[in-house]
Amino acid sequence: MVNDAAVVILAAGQGTRMKSRMAKVLHRAGGKTLVAHAIHAACAVAPPERVFVVVGHQAEAVRAVAEAAGVNSIHQTEQLGTGHAVMCGEEQLAGLGGLLLIINGDCPMIRPQTLEQLVDLYQSTGSTAAMITTDLDDPTGYGRIIRSSNGDVQAIVEHKAATPEQRAVREINAGFYCFDAAAFWKHVHQLSTDNPAGEYYLTDMIAILLGAGHRVTALKIADSSELLGINNRVELAAVDRIMRERKVRQLMLDGVTIEKPETVTVDADVQIGMDTVIEPFAQITGASVIGENCRVGASSIIENSVLEDGAEVFPFSMVSASRLDARAHVGPFARLRMGAHLAESAHVGNFVELKNTRLGAGSKSMHLAYLGDSTIGAKVNVGAGTITCNYDGKKKHQTHIGDGVFVGSNSTLVAPLEISRGAYIAAGSVITQPVPENALAFGRARQAIKEGWVKKV
Ligand code: UD1
Ligand code: CA
Repeated sequence: MVNDAAVVILAAGQGTRMKSRMAKVLHRAGGKTLVAHAIHAACAVAPPERVFVVVGHQAEAVRAVAEAAGVNSIHQTEQLGTGHAVMCGEEQLAGLGGLLLIINGDCPMIRPQTLEQLVDLYQSTGSTAAMITTDLDDPTGYGRIIRSSNGDVQAIVEHKAATPEQRAVREINAGFYCFDAAAFWKHVHQLSTDNPAGEYYLTDMIAILLGAGHRVTALKIADSSELLGINNRVELAAVDRIMRERKVRQLMLDGVTIEKPETVTVDADVQIGMDTVIEPFAQITGASVIGENCRVGASSIIENSVLEDGAEVFPFSMVSASRLDARAHVGPFARLRMGAHLAESAHVGNFVELKNTRLGAGSKSMHLAYLGDSTIGAKVNVGAGTITCNYDGKKKHQTHIGDGVFVGSNSTLVAPLEISRGAYIAAGSVITQPVPENALAFGRARQAIKEGWVKKV
C-alpha cells in the first residue's frame, strides 16, 4: 500500500483492434475481465475509495465491474485520448493531492510489486513524474522513450508521430505512470490535440513537466512479460495462456497434482486444497473452492462450485453453482446445476441431472435420472430412469423424499409430491399421490398373460 496514492485506470476505449462489439477491457484473460485485473493491481497500492476507473465504451458494463470491486468510476463521454480520459476526472481527483498513479486498463499482467517499485523510484529520486519502460524486439505501435545523450528522459513520442530514427528506438512506454498530483493538475491543460491522431496524449505530460523544470525518471523493467498490453485477440490469447500457466504452476507448488497441466484451465480466484488431483482437460472456473484429496476427472467442468474434502467428480461431468460435501461422488457424464447439493458420501452416476436438489447423506442415483426442485433424505436409492416431473408447463413444483426410501427404476414422480420415510416405490410407477411412511406404492398397469397367443396368430 502506498500512502497518499490515488490510482486512475484508463478503460474507456473501445479497442478497435479487438474487432469486437464488446469493449476491450471486458474481454477475459485468466478467467477475469481485463479491467478486473487492473482493479486488483490498483487495490494493492491504494484503498478502493481512491481507485477510479475511466469508463466510456459500454460504460454501464465496465462501471458494474468497478462497482462490484468497490471502486469509483469516471465517465469519459467521448474518447478524445488518454490525456483527456484523466482530465474527465479532474473534479473527483484534483482535490485528493498526493500521488497520482495512472495505469492502462489493458495490461492485466502487471504485478502490484512493480507499481510499488515505480513509486519507490519516484520518491527516492524526488521526481515529479515517473513511468515504466522496457525494451521490446518489436516496438511497433508503442510510445517510444526519447532520451538525451546523457540518458535523461526527454519525451515519450507516440508511434504515429515518431520520425524514422525515433521509431528505431526499442525502449517503449508501458502505460504506467506516477505523477505528483498537484503538478499534474497544474499543467494538464497544456495538453493539446496537435498530433497525427488528433488526441490528447497523456504521454505528452512528460515533455510538459520537463519543460516546466520538473524531474522525470523511468523505471526500466528487463522482463517485459508483465507489461504486455492487449490490443488484439492474439495478444489476449497469449496473456490468457501465461496467466493459466502461472495459476496451475502455483497450485502444483502448493500441493495439487495436475495431470497434463498445459490442458487444464483454472481461473485466477479458484482455490484447491492439497493432494487433490486434477485430470487432463478439466476446467475449474469462477469462485470454485475445492478441498483436499478431491478429484476432478478428465474433461469435467466445475463452475462456481464447492467440493469438500474427498469429493470426486469423474470424467465428462458438469458441475455448476453446486456443492459436494465430503466424499460425495459425481459422474462420469453427470450434470449438477443451479444449487444441487450432495450431502456426505452421496453418489450420482452417469447421465444423471440434478437441479436445485439436495441429495441426502449416503443417497444414490447412479443412472439416467432427472431430479429437479427436490429434497431427498439420507440413504435413499433412486433407481435408473427416475424422473421428477417438476414442471406442469406453467409452474415448478417440489418433490420431498424421506430417509431410506427406495425408488424403483423408471419411476415418474409427479410434483408436488411427498414420499415419506421408508416408503417403497415399485419400478415403472407413475406416482401422483402422497406415499405414507413404509408403504409400498405402485402406479402401473398390471401385467396380463394370454397363454399360447403367439401360436394362435
Ligand atoms: C498507450 C500509450 C503508449 C504506450 C501504450 C502501452 C498514449 C497516448 N499512448 O498507447 O505510449 O506505449 O499505451 O500499452 O497514452 N483510453 C481511454 N480513453 C481514451 C483513449 C484510451 O480510457 O480516450 C484507454 C483505453 O481503454 C486503454 C488505455 O487507455 O485501456 C490505452 O489506450 P490505447 O488506445 O490502447 O493506447 P495505445 O495506443 O496502446
Ligand atoms: Ca494499448
